[in-house]
Amino acid sequence: MKQGRFIVFEGIDGAGKTTQIDLLEQHLRRQGKAVWRTAEPTDSVTGGLLRDALCGASRRSACEMAALFTLDRIHHNVNPVVGIEKMLRDGRDVICDRYYYSSLAYQGSETDPEWVRRMNLDCPEIRRPDLCIFLDLTPEQSMERIRRGRATQEIYETQERLEAVRAKFLQVIASLRDAERIVVVNAARPMEEIHAEICALVADL
Ligand code: TYD
Repeated sequence: MKQGRFIVFEGIDGAGKTTQIDLLEQHLRRQGKAVWRTAEPTDSVTGGLLRDALCGASRRSACEMAALFTLDRIHHNVNPVVGIEKMLRDGRDVICDRYYYSSLAYQGSETDPEWVRRMNLDCPEIRRPDLCIFLDLTPEQSMERIRRGRATQEIYETQERLEAVRAKFLQVIASLRDAERIVVVNAARPMEEIHAEICALVADL
């Protein structure tokens, strides 16, 4: 049986990951492909610890967060029932919402980026994707999409944070360009146009 393809989506909040993942999933299913859709943090016990920390219910240091995301990712790969390796082996295309690029961008900004990078990229049980699609939108554009109903001050604070995250993502992507297939897709266009570009990229794998 032919092994499936491993496709990752990344992007700042509001970049349209969910919409584009929905569209790609439907497109592949229409082609008769088996598809496994997944996301990080996962539903594992470790994923629960991460969500507790992300919502402020518990406190974790930057290194704890980086290590927990890595542990969650390893389990995501090797879980014998619904892991990425298992799904690819069974011939499914795997579409994943966020992966180690998020760790390199977020945790890499909060603790030693070289350590975060090595922990992820040198781990024998963390697979490199066949394709990473970075949906790129300026924070102004993304905030414009979600502007209604928010206080101005809050918007500017968020916008500043999004700008820093985006800059870090672009830096991470540039540093991996020679080693991986990563495509920065302009997400400020109509969703059908973006979808068409993504379908062409996936067809090329
Ligand atoms: P999530 O609930 O998936 O929301 P989103 O729709 O923004 O993807 O939130 C995941 C959060 O976890 C998001 O703010 C990014 C962060 N994150 C990291 O900091 N490091 C990582 O390795 C991953 C996978 C996510």
